[in-house]
Amino acid sequence: FAPKVLAGQSVLITAGPTFEAIDPVRGITNLSSGKMGFAIASAARAAGANVTLVAGPVHLATPRGVRRINVQSAEQMLQAVQSQIEHASIFIATAAVADWRPASSADEKIKKDGSGDVPALAFVENPDILATVAKLPRAQNGELYCVGFAAESHDLLQHATVKRVRKGVPLLVGNIGPATFGQDDNALLLVDANGYRELPRASKAHLGRQLVTELARRLPGAQTK
Ligand code: C5P
Repeated sequence: FAPKVLAGQSVLITAGPTFEAIDPVRGITNLSSGKMGFAIASAARAAGANVTLVAGPVHLATPRGVRRINVQSAEQMLQAVQSQIEHASIFIATAAVADWRPASSADEKIKKDGSGDVPALAFVENPDILATVAKLPRAQNGELYCVGFAAESHDLLQHATVKRVRKGVPLLVGNIGPATFGQDDNALLLVDANGYRELPRASKAHLGRQLVTELARRLPGAQTK
């Protein structure tokens, strides 16, 4: 699209689910398709930004001109983000990161021994990638603009408003989940310190472009329109 509203910006985006191993052939994941994050990556690139996408296991082609780093687990996603964040001026967390991972993952496939016994799974909490990034000094002083997402099944505005403050980000984008997982369209609710704005149901590609425009307007130093 015409105006290069993100020219000179470096955008780091997380997308897709994470996969948390139980053993070499099994794991825990979720139904995130990564489509919204990939659409935003594509739109940000078209708007003139330098874009890096940290992607969990998804079946999507890399948008043209976008650099992609593939990861599996939340810990790997955090590591990839931390290795790239110093170059970024915008961080957009769309990934559906698993909240918990198995406390340990077996080196060999866990065998069914015929006794009827079932393995017990213990979990530990995963790092919150967005909250970790939002606490960085560059995020706190406005050099790094952070955007979070929230998938909620009800009371979207209320949950998104609370989540924005809890995660410590200037912009939180709500969508109705998990109904939107895997779909080609979505509807977004943008919540910032000044209130909220709805982006009505449309293709994820279109919403990605709209979000990029809205985001560019909110960057420190942008002219308010
Ligand atoms: O708390 P909740 O998972 O609903 O928050 C969603 C937002 O936080 C999304 O932007 C998601 O990418 C991010 N997140 C994260 N790391 C986690 C959990 C969520 O970056 N471990």
